[in-house]
Amino acid sequence: MVSHDAWLQSDLVKELKVLAYALWDKGWGERNAGNISVRLNPQQMAEWGVAEMASTQWYDLPKPVPALAGQHMLMTASGAFMRHVKENPEQDLGLVRFSEDGSQFTPIAGYAGGGRPSSEMITHLLVHAERQDKGQSVIVHTHADWLLLMSHLHDQSSEAFTKTLWRMCSESLMFFPDGVGVVPWMLPGSLAIGEASGELAKTHRLILWAFHGVLAAGDSLDDAFGLIETAEKAAMIYCQGKMAGRDLPGISDAQIVSLGKHLGVTPIYELDGR
Ligand code: 13P
Ligand code: ZN
Repeated sequence: MVSHDAWLQSDLVKELKVLAYALWDKGWGERNAGNISVRLNPQQMAEWGVAEMASTQWYDLPKPVPALAGQHMLMTASGAFMRHVKENPEQDLGLVRFSEDGSQFTPIAGYAGGGRPSSEMITHLLVHAERQDKGQSVIVHTHADWLLLMSHLHDQSSEAFTKTLWRMCSESLMFFPDGVGVVPWMLPGSLAIGEASGELAKTHRLILWAFHGVLAAGDSLDDAFGLIETAEKAAMIYCQGKMAGRDLPGISDAQIVSLGKHLGVTPIYELDGR
């Protein structure tokens, strides 16, 4: 018999607690800012006895997501403070099941005390739907300071924003050759921000919500977090340059092209060899 709280004792949840605290420690998770979701794999399903967990109330999604039909997900609760997930996992985390047609979800564990999954659930789902065939099972959303500030200071086109981040330091191209997709300011938690993010997730693993925060899809929690850290570092260099009254020219287009060849990665955008 699988213990009913096997999922809470799992390595994944241990790792998630550490990550949630790290998001707060970075200063990116003020109050309840940020949310995390993980699509469960067959091993987790079996080890945690997920198939045996009873469905509770079914809720309509704002839009069906057939790509996730019948799947299960671990997701932070709406209102959860990333700082406190490690102390209150059964309240701040939960498991959800999606219906066979992908139009509804039901909580099956966690969310103790009447909680619900994150208000950004529809964005997580629409991004997972685009990234699952590319190997990613984790999505992390957080309010990374410098990326947020850069969305105020910089042209919000995905191409211009991405190229500036690539220019700031060598590791940008290494870790996000597929760039950063930028969504203009939209209502948090809305279907519109979810659909815009899902569209950009077809080509980008990193998505910036202007004047709000960032979202990354990863193969693991560390992978998603690492991607955000990398972009955040480049954004910090850009913003600090601006604060010093300089537009840092950084790595040239020709150098980026040669860096791509050296690393064996193809930049998503063409560079004009300036
Ligand atoms: P939740 O607490 O509902 O996950 O919302 C936090 C957030 O960052 C909204 O964008
Ligand atoms: Zn947010």
